[in-house]
Amino acid sequence: MHPMLNIAVRAARAAGTIIVRGFENRSDIATESKGANDFVTQIDKEAEKAIINKIQQSYPDHSFLGEESGETAGSDTEYQWIIDPLDGTTNFVKGIPHFAVSIALLHKGRIEQGVVFDPIRGELFTASRGQGAQLNGYRIRTSKPKDLQETILATGLPFKNKARFGEYALSLNKIFQECGDIRRAGSAALDLAYVAAGRHDGYWERGVKPWDTAAGELLVRESGGLVTDFKGNNDPLYKGEIVAGSAKVIQGVLKHLK
Ligand code: IPD
Ligand code: CA
Ligand code: CA
Repeated sequence: MHPMLNIAVRAARAAGTIIVRGFENRSDIATESKGANDFVTQIDKEAEKAIINKIQQSYPDHSFLGEESGETAGSDTEYQWIIDPLDGTTNFVKGIPHFAVSIALLHKGRIEQGVVFDPIRGELFTASRGQGAQLNGYRIRTSKPKDLQETILATGLPFKNKARFGEYALSLNKIFQECGDIRRAGSAALDLAYVAAGRHDGYWERGVKPWDTAAGELLVRESGGLVTDFKGNNDPLYKGEIVAGSAKVIQGVLKHLK
């Protein structure tokens, strides 16, 4: 395993321990609102600190972009770690055991390492650029469905910006008519990891941030899939929108999003 991926895995596991402990004692956890339907708990913050501490022990000069602590420029700005310490906070708060830690490392703006860790199921999704993607050490691959009819797609609802629901519902209706079925599970990082593992055939969402998708984007690419914005460009990281899957699935979904 690449040494930087190894550190990312250790950091994700450290955060996972904090998250599972917090999940078991949920009633004691303080929750604050960051905006409409957007929550943060003390566990999100503790987990992010643990991740950054772990990485800084090995790479004290690197830079960070964390959902909870924002951007921190180190003396080395070529390396930036993008962190979502707890993706799926609403599930966490509600007691729904579906959330993950997401950590990506960018070098000169390119995603080099990615980890998505589901601490409840003990599922560790990892990828290094050019080296393929793994689930608990075993190679994973995206599915290659013959047509949209046989697909299960994942999506996210625009719950932080409900004014967008009308537009979303129009495309959802068109995509739903053509695919097999749709899931809204509440963790963008796991939605992408599941596409990488061939569990979901595709995924789309608008309103995502780089920390939701950076690690998952690499997982999908390294497992043989494609990741684009809603126009079909291959650089969705800062666009706030993402589509993932095989070329055929992306084509089928994009025609209803453009
Ligand atoms: C959210 C989850 C959710 C997605 C939102 C994200 P958070 O992340 O990934 O599935 O629909 O767009 O913001 O707030 O739980 O880290
Ligand atoms: Ca998130
Ligand atoms: Ca989060």
